Amino acid sequence: MAHTVPTGSMTNAGAVSQARTPGVQIDLQHAKAARSVSRSGPAITCDDVKVFYKKFLAVRDVNMTFNRNEVSALIGPSGCGKSTVLRCLNRMNDLVPGARVEGMIRFEGTDIYGAGVDVNEVRRRIGMVFQKPNPFPKSIYDNVAYGPRVTKMQVDSMDDLVEEALRKAAIWDEVKSNLKGSALALSGGQQQRLCIARAIATKPEVILMDEPCSALDPIATLKIEDLMDSLAQEFTIIIVTHNMQQAARVSQRTAFFTAEADEHGDRTGRLVEFDDTAKMFSNPGDERTEAYISGRFG
Ligand SMILES: Nc1ncnc2c1ncn2[C@@H]1O[C@H](COP(=O)(O)OP(=O)(O)OP(=O)(O)O)[C@@H](O)[C@H]1O
Ligand SMILES: [Mg+2]
Repeated sequence: MAHTVPTGSMTNAGAVSQARTPGVQIDLQHAKAARSVSRSGPAITCDDVKVFYKKFLAVRDVNMTFNRNEVSALIGPSGCGKSTVLRCLNRMNDLVPGARVEGMIRFEGTDIYGAGVDVNEVRRRIGMVFQKPNPFPKSIYDNVAYGPRVTKMQVDSMDDLVEEALRKAAIWDEVKSNLKGSALALSGGQQQRLCIARAIATKPEVILMDEPCSALDPIATLKIEDLMDSLAQEFTIIIVTHNMQQAARVSQRTAFFTAEADEHGDRTGRLVEFDDTAKMFSNPGDERTEAYISGRFG
């Protein structure tokens, strides 16, 4: 699907199986097949991004381009800045006291930290799904309708919109007879798919996911992974995961971050490399990536 969003439309004015080592079995079938997928240009670019928490430099050297309608995975050891970078992509990190971004993050060509940018519009167009399913204590229907209602989206039929979002999140069949039931009564895996439906309902262009399966069992995890391909037909997806098999299964591009102590002992994260997933897991360009994916580090 082509996205033709004019530059500047976020301003207030315009708003509305292959084994590398015995330890890590990586199935690259999906990633290899995906290399032939045509790419339709950048959705988000990061140029020399650094993120600070007060004086602490949490992550640096973030130069990345996330292509539209691709799934990109962010991997690396704990504390290397994956969640920090992800949260900066839709300005969610603004909510952390003392957080500061240097460098440039562009979404569809617009500097999202630039003057006059409407933060709510950025977050509507770049949605987020969190590690722990966090449905509101409301009905299934009201969870999905929440975003469109609060953003006063022009909607012909809210029922249709709710159904469409639940279908796209592959949970419609499980909940269609109980839309007025409490979201909190769903299983963890169902709650996470409901949260995906809630994120989809406001019609974002990008969906950020921070370890969306880490609280789920293997079957619920597979359901979310199965969803990725169909979601990527419509959305750009950026997912943080600790599960390298998952990165290989669902993504076309993979970024590896690491954290290295500086002369003061502060551990600053950095992007090591960002490349086609198949290459990252079979022939990475940097020995730190090689060490990580082969299980010798991290
Ligand atoms: N709210 C915060 N306030 C201060 N420092 C923070 C905050 N969040 C993260 N950090 C620091 O920033 C660095 C990167 O953390 P981040 O949570 O982004 O790492 P991560 O790669 O997502 O780790 P994990 O895999 O454990 O989730 C760490 O040194 C962390 O202590
Ligand atoms: Mg994290």
